[in-house]
Amino acid sequence: MDDLKQKYLGQIADAGDEAVLEAIRLSAVGKKGEVALKMRELGKMTPEERQVAGPALNALKDEINSALAAKKAALADTALDARLREEWLDVTLPARSRRQGTIHPISQVTEEVTAIFAEMGFSVAEGPRIDTDWYNFDALNIPGHHPARAEMDTFYMHRAEGDNRPPHVLRTHTSPVQIRSMETMGAPMRIICPGGVYRADYDQTHTPMFHQVEGLAIDQDISMANLKWVLEEFVKAFFEVDGVDLRFRASHFPFTEPSAEVDIRCSWEGGKLNVGEGDDWLEILGSGMVHPKVLKAGGIDPESWQGFAFGMGIDRIAMLKYGIPDLRAFFDSDLRWLRHYGFASLDQPTLHGGLSR
Ligand code: DAH
Repeated sequence: MDDLKQKYLGQIADAGDEAVLEAIRLSAVGKKGEVALKMRELGKMTPEERQVAGPALNALKDEINSALAAKKAALADTALDARLREEWLDVTLPARSRRQGTIHPISQVTEEVTAIFAEMGFSVAEGPRIDTDWYNFDALNIPGHHPARAEMDTFYMHRAEGDNRPPHVLRTHTSPVQIRSMETMGAPMRIICPGGVYRADYDQTHTPMFHQVEGLAIDQDISMANLKWVLEEFVKAFFEVDGVDLRFRASHFPFTEPSAEVDIRCSWEGGKLNVGEGDDWLEILGSGMVHPKVLKAGGIDPESWQGFAFGMGIDRIAMLKYGIPDLRAFFDSDLRWLRHYGFASLDQPTLHGGLSR
């Protein structure tokens, strides 16, 4: 019995982990362990022998069990100590610097535009980027063989043979959201729709995905004068200047009548753009009075309602305001570029707090 005790207490002391300890437990005091086997031998002993051997075996069993429990606790302590040493963290270290991540200029400008139009009572509407050619073209008075379809370098979604759902496109502009909003909101309404649009085009000022913001105001007595005032207010607020000259140039869009493109007065000095002064003009948007056919397509009666609409390139006005020379850089995800042109993440653009600070 002494041999057993020496053997097992020695093994327990040397055990390096819980798995080894468990193996020792099974071979010592498990159901088929050595102590159990010895207990079975008690039956063959004389009552006198049994009176000595029985308690001694029980004591041995207890001793081994408590050595196992003590070793188990010690192993757990050692493991916890090791973990604490490994996962040590100095909570007194200074926090990471504020500009770890930045807001992308397109997100920033979208927020700025939204803040300005919100102040004028416009809410934000959204539509799908994959839309039917009806919403993207037909409903906007651009029928099947209208040249505007070809001009837009449209991405058409693949259609399997026998698929007779309407053809889908990656929307080429945000104008389809006009129709969807008319359908769901009805008149009167005042919305802007910012979002991504797609055209197959790629150079310094064109990328296959870019961003627009659509504007739409419908009421009973809306006129071009309202359009002009709203756009002037917007441009002043956006470029953070007191006065700007806008030039309304007669133009043509299938979905507006009359239509105008709008330029702002600016100057280029040493490659830097100054908005509001100088002898140059820069086109920033298309606009006009919503065509009666477009109102009708959206389920609004053109006899009772009229409205103005405009569409502006978000990337474009971001380039202008923040002096970004190449559109493609917006989508390169170059960290140095993002740190340079990005905005602090906690500065929300507001009219009273400052748009871009
Ligand atoms: N959808 C036009 C484009 O992408 C922009 C546009 C022009 C939108 C005139 C309008 C508008 O709402 O009235 O080129």
